[in-house]
Amino acid sequence: MAKLSDAEIAALVGRFSGEQGEPAKRRADSGAVAAPYADGALSRAYPAPSFEDLPAYKRLEVQLKVGKATGVTQPFFMVHEGCAHATTVVDGRTLLNFSTYDYLGLNGDPRVNAAAVAAMERYGTSASASRLVAGERPVHRELEQALAAHYGTEDALVFVSGYATNVTVIATLFDRGDIIFEDALVHNSIVTGALNSGATRVAVPHNDVEALERLLKERRHRHRRALIVTEGVFSMDGNCARLKELIALKKRYGCFLMVDEAHALGVTGKTGRGSFEREGINPAQVDIWMGTLSKTLCTCGGYIAGAKALVMLLRYTAPAFVYSVGLSPALAAASLKALTLLHEETWRVHKLQENARYALDTARALGLNTGLAEGTSILPILVGSSLKAAFLSNLLMERGVCALPVIHPVVPEGEARLRLFLSAAHEKEHLMSALKTIADCLPVAEEKAAAFSTSRVREAEHGR
Ligand SMILES: Cc1ncc(COP(=O)(O)O)c(C=O)c1O
Repeated sequence: MAKLSDAEIAALVGRFSGEQGEPAKRRADSGAVAAPYADGALSRAYPAPSFEDLPAYKRLEVQLKVGKATGVTQPFFMVHEGCAHATTVVDGRTLLNFSTYDYLGLNGDPRVNAAAVAAMERYGTSASASRLVAGERPVHRELEQALAAHYGTEDALVFVSGYATNVTVIATLFDRGDIIFEDALVHNSIVTGALNSGATRVAVPHNDVEALERLLKERRHRHRRALIVTEGVFSMDGNCARLKELIALKKRYGCFLMVDEAHALGVTGKTGRGSFEREGINPAQVDIWMGTLSKTLCTCGGYIAGAKALVMLLRYTAPAFVYSVGLSPALAAASLKALTLLHEETWRVHKLQENARYALDTARALGLNTGLAEGTSILPILVGSSLKAAFLSNLLMERGVCALPVIHPVVPEGEARLRLFLSAAHEKEHLMSALKTIADCLPVAEEKAAAFSTSRVREAEHGR
């Protein structure tokens, strides 16, 4: 039998006993034969573990120290004091708001609130159990039927988190021996799901269907099942997937196709139905429609819409569904109301789309770098370094505009940006005013970033 190291013995004994340390002593106490350490000692003192010693903590400390040394005011964890709409209140100041993804301006709508309150009065604030056991309420199925009807699919299933939906669904459906072709810019939740599945992962150059076909030709035949996964509207760049071509490829190469509609529902397509409407395709051609309740539907949670067999399998086996509480009935009711309003009040979709087109044209006319943006609800303003993006966000805050930076490592260094979330709640004056302010502040942010030399970043890293 292979000899275990001290650490392995300690870990094993600790795991079984529920305690760490003194492995040999516990064995002696329990009457088992004592196994002394190699140096002859019968017991060993272990230092108390510390979170501060974790490498990830040390890295975070350095990052925060560097941030502080630059003089940038941390733009994260900002407290908004009310319901964030076209404007928001932070520190008692009213700011123009581009930092929240309430695409159709439905968050706080009295009808959505009333639906949540009615459900809360009837069912309380929690489902109080996994839906598999005692957490099922009528409103869960009503929401799922409405989502299935929206996509024209056989069924749908809602989860308590959009993030967890991607993670659990991909890891439930795919396994070692399978292969997942993921667009290089998909959301972290998709990447994590693919990693957890154990399948072989292939990053496909962003939105490059020709590259995808080359990769499929080379690699598909070596695997049992294959998934192509993408986003309907990309969350960092605001551009759209080439769904028609992906559908052709998935048919040719016998793959499943999954599309994350987090930023497409209520945003693209003539009436805001999402990517299938934008592309004029039959939604049944996509195997797995995924979406979140947190953007257009202004609550919290995720959903899957697709075939009966897919939904049944997930309902009985997806860990984040089976081993997690059911969606709060109040949130299910609010999401259902928001979905109904998306269908009934298409003027919201049209206003958002008009705003998105106007904002993109205006930004370009002002000479701002909008990257891959295509006039959706996400407008990136690419600025270069993370430091420049952070300074720019700070300057905008001072001038009454709330727009947050997206910095390395979320995007590659050199591609840091402001990400503006647009809404039907915005007016054209809001957009013009914010974009002009961005154009005015950009040279100042550039100067500030240039003044902060690399050597000073190094000094900060080393605590000088
Ligand atoms: C494309 C995409 N998918 C999934 C998620 C996770 O959704 P949620 O924040 O609702 O958990 C996000 C989050 O913003 C996202 O952008």
